[in-house]
Amino acid sequence: MSESKIYKPKQFDLSGLNGISDQTLEMHFKLYEGYVTNTNTLTQKIGEFLRDGRVDQEEMPAYSELTRRMGFEYNGMVLHEYYFGNMKKGSTTTDPENQSEFRRLAEQSFGSYDVWKADFVSVGKMRGVGWAICYQDPIHQTLSNHWITLHEVGNVAGFVPVLVMDVWEHAFLLDYKPAERPKYIEAFFSNIDWRAVEGRLAEGVNARPAAAAEGR
Ligand SMILES: [Fe+2]
Repeated sequence: MSESKIYKPKQFDLSGLNGISDQTLEMHFKLYEGYVTNTNTLTQKIGEFLRDGRVDQEEMPAYSELTRRMGFEYNGMVLHEYYFGNMKKGSTTTDPENQSEFRRLAEQSFGSYDVWKADFVSVGKMRGVGWAICYQDPIHQTLSNHWITLHEVGNVAGFVPVLVMDVWEHAFLLDYKPAERPKYIEAFFSNIDWRAVEGRLAEGVNARPAAAAEGR
């Protein structure tokens, strides 16, 4: 496998978040590292099939299975980088500043920031295993919130993830009961790094999680 295709896990300094324990974070970082490892392993194995320049008929079942898993593992890696990357310790606010670009776009897209938030939180409370993601349409600049099943079903190609919230149970099960997802969502909001969100809006399609960028 060429060096340019090897991804390395990024380190996040988040110890001491509000309502999300260090124990949860440690466990979650390990899960994230698993996605990085699996992405590298799948890339390598698929590359081995292609070494002779083609995929033989008898190789198709194994090749297909590995290729289908790529979306799960790759998005599992990248979405966790967005998620950890849009939180910070020591936050004292839950909402973006009045003059922020995010608030302006939320008002433009939803009528008010509060309506945007009601939508995002409601997406986060949806039953199922996945993510709530606020994307920006790079053409129209508008924001929209989406439910992502697992890691790969529902991502909008070309849209820029600006706020990413993991709502898999592993994100909060050590701190809250399964039915207490709303409490976790409240805790998540109290840890949002709105400056990172603003940065993603400013960078647009160039905004990439660091580990993925290093792996390009
Ligand atoms: Fe997760």
